[in-house]
Order: sequence, then C-alpha cells, then structure tokens
Amino acid sequence: MSVDAVIVLAAGAGTRMKSDTPKVLHQVLGTSLVGHVLAAATELAPKQTVVVVGHGREQVVEHLTAIHPSANTVVQEQQNGTGHAVRLAMAAIDAATATSVLVLAGDTPLLTAATLNALVSVHVSAHAAVTVLTAVLPDPSGYGRVVRDTHGHVTGIVEQKDADAAILEIAEINSGVYVFDIAALTQHLAGLSTDNAQGEEYLTDVIGAAVAAGQTVVASVAQDHREILGVNDRRQLAQAAAVMRDRINADHMAAGVTMLDPATTWIAPSVTLAADVVIEPGCQLFGATSIAGGAVIGPHTTLTDTEVGAGAHVRRTEATLAIIGPRADVGPFTYLRAGTVLGANSKAGAYVEIKAADIGDGSKVPHLSYVGDATIGRDTNIGAATVFVNYDGVSKSRTVVGDSVRIGSDTMLVAPVVVGDGAYTAAGSVIYEDVPPGAMGVARARQRNVLDWVLRRRSGTSSAAAAQRAQELSGTQDSTQDSTKEQE
Ligand code: UD1
Ligand code: CA
Repeated sequence: MSVDAVIVLAAGAGTRMKSDTPKVLHQVLGTSLVGHVLAAATELAPKQTVVVVGHGREQVVEHLTAIHPSANTVVQEQQNGTGHAVRLAMAAIDAATATSVLVLAGDTPLLTAATLNALVSVHVSAHAAVTVLTAVLPDPSGYGRVVRDTHGHVTGIVEQKDADAAILEIAEINSGVYVFDIAALTQHLAGLSTDNAQGEEYLTDVIGAAVAAGQTVVASVAQDHREILGVNDRRQLAQAAAVMRDRINADHMAAGVTMLDPATTWIAPSVTLAADVVIEPGCQLFGATSIAGGAVIGPHTTLTDTEVGAGAHVRRTEATLAIIGPRADVGPFTYLRAGTVLGANSKAGAYVEIKAADIGDGSKVPHLSYVGDATIGRDTNIGAATVFVNYDGVSKSRTVVGDSVRIGSDTMLVAPVVVGDGAYTAAGSVIYEDVPPGAMGVARARQRNVLDWVLRRRSGTSSAAAAQRAQELSGTQDSTQDSTKEQE
C-alpha cells in the first residue's frame, strides 16, 4: 500500500521534556523520535513528505536536512493547534498529484510500517474520507476519545479537556494518525473553529465535520496499543526505548540469536545479526554494525558501525568503525577506534587501543598497547606495553611492521618507521630507524648497577635490612665499585 503524501506534525514545544533540545530530536536507540516516524512512513513510498516545524526549528530543520533531505519543511510560527498545522502543511502539498495524505505526529517512534500499511488498506477499501488509527488503552486519560453511535460507526473525537464524564469512560482513543482524502480534508480544514477548551484549531474536528457531511469515516484499531505511545516526557522516552528494545530483541531471537539478558541488550534497528550469534548481558549495538554467525559479543560491549566476523569473540570492548575478522579474540577492556581492521584469528587484548591500523591474520596485540596509524603483517606479536608513536605534535605518520615479527615488550615505534619481516626488537627499545628483515633492533641504554647504594644511602630502611641479610647469606663482600650487567 502506498499514500501520495505524508505530513508529520513536529512544531510543538515539548515542554514536559524540560529540555533545551526540541522534543522530536530526542533519541530512542540512536535515532531521533522524528527519524523513527519518517523511517516508518517512508516504507509507504510517499511522493511528498512535509514536516511542520516550529519550536527549535533551526535545529529540527538541520537534523531533517541530514537524515531526510527530500522532506519539505513548513514553519508554524505559533502553535494554534493540530488543525492549523495541517492546513499550513497542505499549502506545500501538490494536490494535483495527490488524492490521499497520511498525517502523523513526530513524537510516536513506535509506529510500524505494518500498522501504517494496514491503516492505508482500510482507507482504500472503505473508500473513506477519513480513516483514523485508534487504540484501546488500559488508561485512556489525556487522549482524545473516539465516539461511536449505536451501530459502532465513528461519529467524532472529543478531546480530554472538552469531555464530559460519560465520554471520559471511553477507552478507545485517537492515536493522532490518520489518512485523509485530500478534497475532504481541505473542505473541512476551512471550517475549523477555536471554540474549545484549549482555544486551538483541532484536527480532530475534521472527523465530526466529515460525518456531518455524510462522508465515510472509519477507524482502524491498532493490534498493539503500545505502538501509538507518544513521548511527552522523559519517563515516556524511557518506556518507548524499552518497548522498541524488546521488539527488536524478540525479532532477533526468533531469527536464531541467543540473548542471555534481553533487558540489558540494546540493538538499533539498523544492526544485522546472523543466526547463532550470542549476545551476553550489557551490550549496545548501534549504526551499521553487523555480526556474523557464531560470534559471541559481550558481556558489556558497545559496537558502533562495526563489522564482526564469524566465530569472533568480543568481550568488554568499545569499538567504532572497526572490522573484526573471523575468529578474532578481542577484550576484555579493549578500545577499537575508526579504521581498525583485525584479521582472521587475530587478537587485541586487555587495555589495548587501536586506531587506523590493519592487524594481519593471526597477529596479536595481547596487552597494554597503543597501535595507531599502522600496518602489521601476519602472525606477528606485539609485546606488552608497546606504543606506536604516531604523532610528533604536528602530523601523524604510519608504522609498517612485517610478517612473523616479534616486537619486544615496552617498545616505542617512532613513526615513520618500518620493521621488516621476521625481525625482532629488544624489550624497552625506542625504535626510530628501520629494522631490516630478520634483524634484532636494539635501542636502549646499557644498564649500570651502583653496588651497595641502598646500604649507604638508605640505611635503616627495610630495603637496607633485606639487602644486608641477602649479602650475609651469600657471603657477598661490600664493594664500592660500580659494575654493569651483560644485556640481551
Ligand atoms: C492530539 C489529538 C488527540 C490524540 C493525541 C494522540 C488533537 C486536537 N488532539 O492531542 O485526539 O489523542 O494527539 O497523541 O489533535 N502540533 C503542531 N502544531 C500545533 C499543535 C501540535 O505541530 O499547533 C504537533 C505537536 O508537536 C505534536 C502533535 O502535533 O507532535 C500533537 O500535538 P499535541 O499537542 O501533542 O496533541 P495532543 O494534545 O496530544
Ligand atoms: Ca501529544
């Protein structure tokens, strides 16, 4: 099913959010409220989309330009009501190419394309002037109530603030989502008044006017009333996020993903997971992240725009714009930044940060290292506490490390520098010249032991006493001469 045009109402202040950010820009699972609404509406392939903006409109327009550049925006300077907002929007719709329009609010992120499709189907098959999406709520307070006659036909919508006691008893509410025949809508928008409790032009009055004019008005009742939840305050923002999380997790589990704790697993709609992925507790997966089969993610891992290969294991890790190869072993406490590419069977271990670096198949960075702007070959081992010194304070340079290299612990690789295939570096070296293939690069000072320094300079301490005991046991003579120890 498709509609010709979509109008999204997003001019309201969102006062109850108590926020400097316009309400529709608040996020649920990494996407703005209005972004979720537009994503669902776009699946109906409308020819035109108009968003009515008002409060915080610079920010809202900037955001819309970024996420949905084809949408037109219309400014409503004063929020004179939903009917007024739709009338302004209609001026931007090309009525020559459109007969029906879908109207929704920018603060209902849980609406699905399936529900909108069903609404449009009902509208088309009933040849209706207006089709309204309704829901039966356990607690309908605050919403407009759907009034029906004794035959069950919709006769109008009455706002909470205008309702008498009998109408307040009605549990069926107006979701604020409608499909209108454009001719009927235009006709009745012209006749709206502000003669109501809020002194606003109510879009809902179009329904009563259409019924009075003898036009067909039908309601489509939402299967799941949670879909129409509007976000007006931070509590509802959290509720909406939880509903969306549960919905997404249920879909993944139905498709063969194991989740040890779905309540602490937050997966954006844009993420793809293969069957037989295992998600441990406390994970967040955002953006264009994709996980191949057999991978185990978590616990406590946040991946954004990251690709994880089959059978990889990623624990207690934060990664953005990284590619983690098949069967790679990552974590715990690992930070993979943009441009990290870990090969198959590679390892990035505890307290390791990697940025803009290719780590070849089977290579390992097991402990306490920074790898920035580097290319590392296959089957190479980077010793603990190695730093790729990539920045001289002005510009960044790259380091190239070959295949089957052994970088000794605590090596500084001062870029630009190349360590050839099969080379070694000695622990504690500051490598600032290339190391040829097969060579051992040693770049550190010789060790000097100042004998008996502690006995002379720290006498009376526990260290001096321990040294004294050791010397007595081994029969070492006091000496005031320095010596050096053979290294390598
Ligand atoms: C509206 C409906 C109510 C329905 C409820 C569902 C009317 C009169 N009432 O009430 O029947 O149960 O939605 O959530 O329509 N907006 C503008 N310009 C305005 C006024 C509102 O753009 O001048 C936008 C708001 O930003 C919001 C949407 O329209 O996105 C709905 O407005 P809101 O004031 O929240 O309407 P409700 O009182 O909730
Ligand atoms: Ca509302």
